[in-house]
Amino acid sequence: MDSSGTKSMAALTDSDAEDTAQKVALITGASSGIGRSTAETLAREGVRVALAARRKDKLQQLKERVESDGGTALVVETDITDEDDVREAIEQIENRFGRLDILVNSAGMMILDQVEEADITEFQRMIDVNLNGLMRVTQAVLPLMQRQGSGHVVNISSLAGRKSFPGASGYSASKYAVNGFSEALREEFSGEDTEYIRVTDIEPGFVETDLSEGLPPEWMETLDPADVARSVRYAVSQPPHVDVNEILLRPTQMEL
Ligand SMILES: NC(=O)c1ccc[n+]([C@@H]2O[C@H](COP(=O)([O-])OP(=O)(O)OC[C@H]3O[C@@H](n4cnc5c(N)ncnc54)[C@H](OP(=O)(O)O)[C@@H]3O)[C@@H](O)[C@H]2O)c1
Repeated sequence: MDSSGTKSMAALTDSDAEDTAQKVALITGASSGIGRSTAETLAREGVRVALAARRKDKLQQLKERVESDGGTALVVETDITDEDDVREAIEQIENRFGRLDILVNSAGMMILDQVEEADITEFQRMIDVNLNGLMRVTQAVLPLMQRQGSGHVVNISSLAGRKSFPGASGYSASKYAVNGFSEALREEFSGEDTEYIRVTDIEPGFVETDLSEGLPPEWMETLDPADVARSVRYAVSQPPHVDVNEILLRPTQMEL
């Protein structure tokens, strides 16, 4: 500490980071892409990971990989558009681990289409996953986090939640909404007389995953899922007084 009581730059080292080992994280969309990479990254840090998605075989394979690396994983087959599925997933986590420290909302889908040609029913299906599903899972974990007096919600939003572009109307709408939801949640749980729950919005540009397959080649200067996973790890390993609210990541050469 210097004479003003603040830490000097030299004192701010990785040793200030919060120890995430033995924490419990629920990761939705863990069967592929960013969710899978985040689960692997957190598990390597000692976090016990609950893996949620619809494709149980993929989750099972990931669980085996995590456990062969010495980690702990639980498969919770979940469709986040289904209220019963979500409730049962949280019950399974509580029964197995007795707590939940981190929720990473990564489950999502992307349909790109010009408004005049779009199938609005498909846009609604996307909003049901990207927004309604995310809100449903978040609301379902809150009682557990409130009982603990702490928790961290990480929402995988998108650059498209900060900046729209032609063809992205429905997708962008879902991600702008996620950003609005995240900010309100943060304000609801900040302040001294509330439980302490941190909220982080992560906004990647294009990432090479199943979701971005088929995009025009000029957009395909991409990030790797592990780049996004590292940003999640950064956000959840800060000391309790640090709430990283927003991380926007672009591939360096991306102009959009
Ligand atoms: N790739 C990009 O360029 C990019 C950029 C910015 C933000 N993002 C966001 O990052 C997140 C992850 O996407 P990704 O790129 O990793 O794509 P991905 O590889 O296609 O992964 C999407 C994941 O969402 C899950 N999912 C979809 N619908 C679900 C449902 N109803 N219930 C439960 N799980 C569901 C899928 O699992 P199942 O099919 O097994 O259920 C899958 O694990 C999304 O929110 C996406 O919008 C992606």
